[in-house]
Amino acid sequence: MKLLITGGAGFIGSHVVRLFVTKYPEYQIYNLDALTYAGNLANLSDIENAPNYTFIKGDITDAKFLEDMFAELSFDGVIHLAAESHVDRSITDPMSFVMTNVVGTVNLLNAAKNSWVSTGGFDGKRFYHVSTDEVYGSLHNPEDFFTEETAYDPQSPYSASKAASDHFVRAYGNTYKMPVVLSNCSNNYGPNHFPEKLIPLMIHNIQTNKPLPVYGKGENVRDWLFVVDHARAIDAVFHKGKLGETYNIGGFNEWKNLDLVHLLCQIMDRKLGRPEGTSAQLITYVTDRAGHDLRYAIDANKIMNELGWQPSLQFEEGLEKTVDWFLANQTWLENVTSGAYQSYYKGMYANR
Ligand code: NAD
Ligand code: DAU
Repeated sequence: MKLLITGGAGFIGSHVVRLFVTKYPEYQIYNLDALTYAGNLANLSDIENAPNYTFIKGDITDAKFLEDMFAELSFDGVIHLAAESHVDRSITDPMSFVMTNVVGTVNLLNAAKNSWVSTGGFDGKRFYHVSTDEVYGSLHNPEDFFTEETAYDPQSPYSASKAASDHFVRAYGNTYKMPVVLSNCSNNYGPNHFPEKLIPLMIHNIQTNKPLPVYGKGENVRDWLFVVDHARAIDAVFHKGKLGETYNIGGFNEWKNLDLVHLLCQIMDRKLGRPEGTSAQLITYVTDRAGHDLRYAIDANKIMNELGWQPSLQFEEGLEKTVDWFLANQTWLENVTSGAYQSYYKGMYANR
């Protein structure tokens, strides 16, 4: 198995690469990543010398580069995670999301299709597209959940770009009979999470005594899953998922943002030896995100019943682990927040 994982230097991708490199030593794993601001090879420093691992620096918006790479390496499978992933950035710069998430995904589909058609067909091949629950829009009735049948209703430029990419993947499955499979996951958290997203941003700001910016009234609800459990789900879908199908992945773990920030403050007060209530004083209500989705909640029964996957960690345990990781990895955090990680690692790896 020659497996291409895209976006493997990012938050979730690095956990997926690590899981596959260590669990499947017989596979050759290729990690293709453009090393944008979100890509950080330090996330993979523990496995970068593994004999079954190769890093390739490249951009999925470059169709010619992808065609050449597929012609040279003849991958058997693709797990596609590379994306622009932050909703706030999509509001200020939607076109980058169109380029990477839509054009990049179609480039990758074309490269895989052309390579597989010209080398004997689709037998034994698999193109797995990793997507998000945000494509389903926003829930307003507290009893509702997103199922695999929920109609798409994306509300932000980010979710619109992911929805478009999902539609293209399904269209290639239908039109060209490409062997595709998809999953749509809820909010991840854990080690290596880029500190522009809620949980790592709050941990970092609590530690450095900066304001904790809660959008609006903090009433929006997200369904949180530990990133390693998402990587385990991706393993299950890649190996056992039925072609043409979609699997929703989530933790049945809904939290109002404000409650979550208070919980983080309590954990951090305890870990930092501060009197209880100290960090919560940093909470600051700021202007709401434009078009802010109210609630996401995933019905994950299909993957649980059909593929036997379930989350391994309770939320409180996962949050403790996450806080411990950030406190123990100050250099990672300093390099990421200062931007130093980019010049250092970019200098180490040349373009192919
Ligand atoms: P991330 O932003 O941390 O990482 C994205 C990675 O993709 C980075 O390493 C970046 O360098 C790379 N990349 C970006 N543009 C590229 C390009 N043009 N060519 C090649 N590489 C490029 O994202 P993440 O949070 O790890 O999310 C990974 C995937 O999972 C995304 O597709 C995202 O939509 C999806 N997802 C994320 C979450 C979440 O909570 N973070 C939940 C569900 C689904
Ligand atoms: O649901 C899956 C999605 O989860 C993924 O597809 C996205 O890639 C990922 O970024 C995440 O999107 P969210 O917008 O839900 O995550 P974020 O961490 O940006 O925000 C979580 C919630 O916290 C959201 O309601 C906005 C709020 N928030 C966020 C930040 C950064 C704040 O209140 N303050 C903040 O500073």
